Amino acid sequence: MLRRGCRPLLCLWALLPLVSLHRLNQHGHRLHAAKERPKLLLVSFDGFRWDYIDRVPTPNFLALMKEGVQVEQVENIYITKTFPNHYSLVTGLYAETHGIVANEFYDPALNLSFSMETDSVYDSRWWEEAVPLWVTVQKAGGRSGAAMWPGSDVKIHGMFPSQYLPYNMSVPFETRVERIIEWFSAPREEAVDFGVLYWEEPDESGHRLGPESSLMDVVIAGIDEKLGFLRNELRKAGLYEKVNLIVTSDHGMTQLSTDKIIELDEYVSRDLYTWVDKSPVLGLIPKEGKFEEVYSKLVDANPYMAVYKKEDIPEHFHYQHNIRIMPILIEAQEGWTIVQNRTNPFMLGNHGYNNTLRSMHPVFVARGPAFRQDFVKPSMHSVDLYPLMCHILSVRPLPNNGSLLNVKDLLAQEPTAISTPSPPRVNEYSYAPVIGSLISVVMVLGFLVVYIKEVTLKQLPSLPHGSKEMSQPLLQEDLHLHFLEKQRGCVRQI
Ligand SMILES: *[C@@H]1O[C@H](CO)[C@@H](O)[C@H](O)[C@H]1NC(C)=O
Ligand SMILES: *[C@@H]1O[C@H](CO)[C@@H](O)[C@H](O)[C@H]1NC(C)=O
Ligand SMILES: *[C@@H]1O[C@H](CO)[C@@H](O)[C@H](O)[C@H]1NC(C)=O
Ligand SMILES: *[C@@H]1O[C@H](CO)[C@@H](O)[C@H](O)[C@H]1NC(C)=O
Ligand SMILES: *[C@@H]1O[C@H](CO)[C@@H](O)[C@H](O)[C@H]1NC(C)=O
Ligand SMILES: [Zn+2]
Repeated sequence: MLRRGCRPLLCLWALLPLVSLHRLNQHGHRLHAAKERPKLLLVSFDGFRWDYIDRVPTPNFLALMKEGVQVEQVENIYITKTFPNHYSLVTGLYAETHGIVANEFYDPALNLSFSMETDSVYDSRWWEEAVPLWVTVQKAGGRSGAAMWPGSDVKIHGMFPSQYLPYNMSVPFETRVERIIEWFSAPREEAVDFGVLYWEEPDESGHRLGPESSLMDVVIAGIDEKLGFLRNELRKAGLYEKVNLIVTSDHGMTQLSTDKIIELDEYVSRDLYTWVDKSPVLGLIPKEGKFEEVYSKLVDANPYMAVYKKEDIPEHFHYQHNIRIMPILIEAQEGWTIVQNRTNPFMLGNHGYNNTLRSMHPVFVARGPAFRQDFVKPSMHSVDLYPLMCHILSVRPLPNNGSLLNVKDLLAQEPTAISTPSPPRVNEYSYAPVIGSLISVVMVLGFLVVYIKEVTLKQLPSLPHGSKEMSQPLLQEDLHLHFLEKQRGCVRQI
């Protein structure tokens, strides 16, 4: 009698917080008030190629790999430049969908140009074709902190990160780390749940010296020391075992040479087009009526350069469907540089090329309570990181081009409710609330019948307060799925 009566009660007590938390979530209030929420820090060392860790001793990267996971080949998104890739990491979207299509680009509808080197970056309109994870975390009631991640000091969909540093490349890495640690260590109500941290090296040195230069060795060792500083500060603050730490990058780097220069002036007059962005991938806007002339002069001009009409850009680049992508796209072959003439600046290292090239791939290591230990995964797509981070943070991912299924083997625990099926997906959540609500009404009614029957037959002692499930944070991105699962479990038990 007691047993039979107890089961539906436990189920209901498990359900009530889910129902109410779901409502709170919709109104932008706090989730997981009772227990500490999962923490995640995403770090990018700009231009840290995947194989730099094999080149000089990098004991701190090695330690993270042993304590956690490593992915050897992360295929990033095209074009393999800084701004598009950083925005993909926090949105899970290809550039054609998130809208930050290059480091420099033009929007014909706005009649404005974006450049990472000007204040144009602060115009929200560039960023609002997508929603970065820090905004989603905050809308779910969490807090975020950003130390100079591209876009993180811009108001996007009405929000800045809860805490952030305005971009200033002169602020040392150590200062950025100290601020992030402060934000994670704040009292519970103010502490951030999700942090992003950006550092400009080894990209700058890679461009200047070329990645194959032996002078890069000391630069790479220096980054490992910076990672050591971060690990130490996390330990000193008592955060090392609590915070999930992901260390990655936006792209790799390849060696260039002055023998591999393509001068566009040799093929077509610069009066016939406007040049957008920089080598090795750039857009051309032919002057009025000059499209065919420019295209035909360039298309077969040089074997080390691919010239595409926008509609012919290869499918696998996912780089076509956006008005910010220009009518003609030119891509240099790996190692080649495109200029107008040789007086243009030249660098010894660059990135931006075909995203299937290994030289364009970034490093990836991660550790923390969410991750497996001492596990090496051969490959992943950088867009899969977003659903993985959403899962770790227990926030519902927005539609994206990645899949949690592709990377769930990195996790210590198999996700119990996969809410990110492989693309394509359409309105995957639209029926869940309705079904959830209906089932919950039926459940509550059913419970009341059982409860009233029991109470009238026999005085119950005390209600099972403090049921373990009540105070547990929701570890699923999709509260409704979680809710339905509980329901099913409950029905079976009855
Ligand atoms: C675009 O803006 C420029 C000024 O930056 C202006 O000269 C030009 O007329 C504008 N073009 C259109 C189509 O509005
Ligand atoms: C950038 O940071 C440096 C070093 O901390 C500081 O001296 C400088 O004033 C900062 N610049 C701006 C514009 O805040
Ligand atoms: C190369 O281009 C610059 C402008 O970018 C121009 O001043 C110079 O005359 C050009 N040199 C040659 C050799 O065409
Ligand atoms: C990109 O590189 C891959 C192989 O690395 C190749 O198969 C593909 O054709 C390249 N795409 C373009 C458009 O160059
Ligand atoms: C990427 O995801 C977005 C959002 O779901 C979708 O609109 C777009 O079609 C996807 N792109 C590809 C190539 O699947
Ligand atoms: Zn970069």
